[in-house]
Amino acid sequence: MNQKKEFRKMMKERLSAISQPEYEHFSYLIAQKLYKEAEWKEAGIIGITISKTPEVDTFQIIRRAWEEGKKVVVPKCRPRDRSLEFRTLSAFNQLESVYYGLWEPIPEQTEEVASGEIDLLIVPGLAFSRSGFRLGFGGGYYDRFLRFFSGRTISLAFHMQLIDEIPLEEHDLPVEKIITDREIVRTDD
Ligand SMILES: Nc1ncnc2c1ncn2[C@@H]1O[C@H](COP(=O)(O)OP(=O)(O)O)[C@@H](O)[C@H]1O
Ligand SMILES: [Mg+2]
Repeated sequence: MNQKKEFRKMMKERLSAISQPEYEHFSYLIAQKLYKEAEWKEAGIIGITISKTPEVDTFQIIRRAWEEGKKVVVPKCRPRDRSLEFRTLSAFNQLESVYYGLWEPIPEQTEEVASGEIDLLIVPGLAFSRSGFRLGFGGGYYDRFLRFFSGRTISLAFHMQLIDEIPLEEHDLPVEKIITDREIVRTDD
């Protein structure tokens, strides 16, 4: 557990060293790679987080999804049981700041979508191993959600977020693919 904490701290420090031009450049490269993937092309409904710097930018990805006629659903945390619900987002002014400075969908202006309807889930994380395991932000929200999720999963990461060893616990679940500014990692290889 403490090992995870140390890894999170280390990765946050490393990420905070990225300059804004680099952040924009790498985020753009990653987004362009995502649009070429079959999972993206085939998805009608995309689950994606609202990025908070220094996570890979997702605002441009959400705009692109709208332009392509896809439905975008974004998570709202339920702290009580550390679960997630996904709600439709059709404009950025449907977001409010509720929880840990994260932007979340305003319930009165958005509709919940069942997890079974999400074709592609973009799974956030601080660090990833080449086998797809992730170090999240420490809430375990996505580990809980992924247990019952059967759609496609992709994580977006800066190259420096790929690390050799991730401290793992039994409940940790991997993603199927990781897209970085340098490569696409298929985690079942
Ligand atoms: N499927 C689950 N059921 C119950 N508790 C879980 C589950 N997944 C994770 N947790 C709990 O959530 C907490 C955070 O999980 P952790 O993997 O450290 O965070 P993260 O994946 O966000 O980095 C842990 O205390 C863990 O026991
Ligand atoms: Mg975990």
